[in-house]
Amino acid sequence: MKEKLDAVLGKAEIEIAKAETYNDLLNLKSHFVGKKSELGDFMKTLGSLSPEERPAVGKLINDTKVAIEQLLQSAEERINSLDYEREVKAAQFDYTMPGRSYQRGALHPLTIIQQQMEDVFISMGFQVADGFDVEDEFHVFDALNTPADHPSRNLADTFYVETSQGNGVLLTTQTSAAQIRVMENYKPPIRIISPGRAYRNDKFDPTHSPVFHQLEGLVVDENVSFKDLRDTIDIFVKKMFGHDCKSRFRPHFFPFTEPSAEIDISCFNCGGKGCSTCKNSGWIEIAGCGMVDPNVFDTLGIDSEKYTGFAFGFGIDRTAMLKFRVPDIRILFDNDLRFLTQFR
Ligand code: DAH
Repeated sequence: MKEKLDAVLGKAEIEIAKAETYNDLLNLKSHFVGKKSELGDFMKTLGSLSPEERPAVGKLINDTKVAIEQLLQSAEERINSLDYEREVKAAQFDYTMPGRSYQRGALHPLTIIQQQMEDVFISMGFQVADGFDVEDEFHVFDALNTPADHPSRNLADTFYVETSQGNGVLLTTQTSAAQIRVMENYKPPIRIISPGRAYRNDKFDPTHSPVFHQLEGLVVDENVSFKDLRDTIDIFVKKMFGHDCKSRFRPHFFPFTEPSAEIDISCFNCGGKGCSTCKNSGWIEIAGCGMVDPNVFDTLGIDSEKYTGFAFGFGIDRTAMLKFRVPDIRILFDNDLRFLTQFR
């Protein structure tokens, strides 16, 4: 009996070693230890043995069964890992391959600069007011003390919009219109900035774009002086362009401010010595400003005896071009990823 069982075990060992799939194992299991297997047949003979012989023979059969089951068990483990390797090969999975990188979005350089400018003014107590892209002549010109025959109203400079109500609707040519909207809706003290788009009928060239961005500012209160304007601009310029940056006012004319000035900053490229950035002058024009003309207050019913104010308008595109050394305004509007991805 023992030899026969050893022979079965030997056969099982050989067959199980050859098994390659889980299915092979199931077949071998039923062949060697199932009810209809050779071992099963041996089991059936137990009944014909004497009670004395039975335990010893039973144990022999059982030991063989346990040994075969152990062979099946370790073969299953072998096949599992084989299956895994096969799967990996089939998927052609390369562990050494670097991971895929996904393109991240980024803020547009104009947005970055606008937010930096906003942050400086917010730190000085300004609030942010939204203006409109589509405006009317009252807010863009009349209320800003701009005479009916002023050249800036010219059809050639302004994009007028035809509406069913007639003319007088336009794409705003300056964010200064937002000053009027604020003064119509809020009483002094007022201290706001209003970033926005402006539109002018200009052809694209290195320094012009038919749409560009401005950051408007307005302060109205009792006893607001020209010195307050000067100090506010000086603080802004130092925080925005660096502590060594100086600013100067040049007399100018704007219909809605009196007196008016244009603001230059010292060239941060050459420190004022003269270079191509500042066209050898040492200074770069960056904004317009002035004291709010009393006519503007009068139109809006603000007591011009009691209140004074100042206003300013910065070019955001210009500031971005200076800070990021962008040589041509068109680059800001091209949406060329080679440019934009530099701001990630
Ligand atoms: N609106 C002017 C422009 O587009 C800029 C400007 C100048 C705004 C003086 C102001 C200001 O608020 O006081 O050229």
